[in-house]
Amino acid sequence: MKTTSRFVILCAALALPWAVQAQTVPALKSGEQVYRDTCMVCHGTGVANAPRLGDKQVWGKLIAEGQHVLTAHAWVGVRGMPAKGGRNDLSLEEFSRAVAWMARGSGGNWQDPDARMLKLIRSEESKRIEQLKKAPAKG
Ligand code: HEC
Repeated sequence: MKTTSRFVILCAALALPWAVQAQTVPALKSGEQVYRDTCMVCHGTGVANAPRLGDKQVWGKLIAEGQHVLTAHAWVGVRGMPAKGGRNDLSLEEFSRAVAWMARGSGGNWQDPDARMLKLIRSEESKRIEQLKKAPAKG
């Protein structure tokens, strides 16, 4: 066997586990994808007073709460807003991307969360859960 064909076989063998993994681990959805799949039904039209995408007045107040606070509250659920948007298969990162995407479309400049932001959201989530055990959601 020629050296070049040995090399090609070796490369294929090395790439195989990577290719299999790439197929079985789906990439995270973008904020826009999550919005379209899950959030738009309510946030597109404002069902049950959901803050509408692009409504800068309403979103201005929400954005002022801060990215980690607002994201955690929505993730846990607040009044008409179901926890995780009603989709238990969404990861926190995907959900947070959707919140950031909606905020960007409504006058804000929030970015997809990095590791630091995700940590802040997680810590706010625990606080929120504790708070809700003591009193029902106020905001
Ligand atoms: C079944 C309808 C529904 C779906 C689906 C839904 N939302 Fe909501 N959402 C609401 C309503 C209603 C509110 C307003 C809650 C309130 O303040 O009374 C809300 C509020 C929010 C808020 C503001 C929370 C706050 O603290 O005021 C955010 C952020 C949010 N939603 C994000 C999302 C994201 C991201 C998705 C998709 C993954 C999503 N929502 C899917 C109904 C929905």
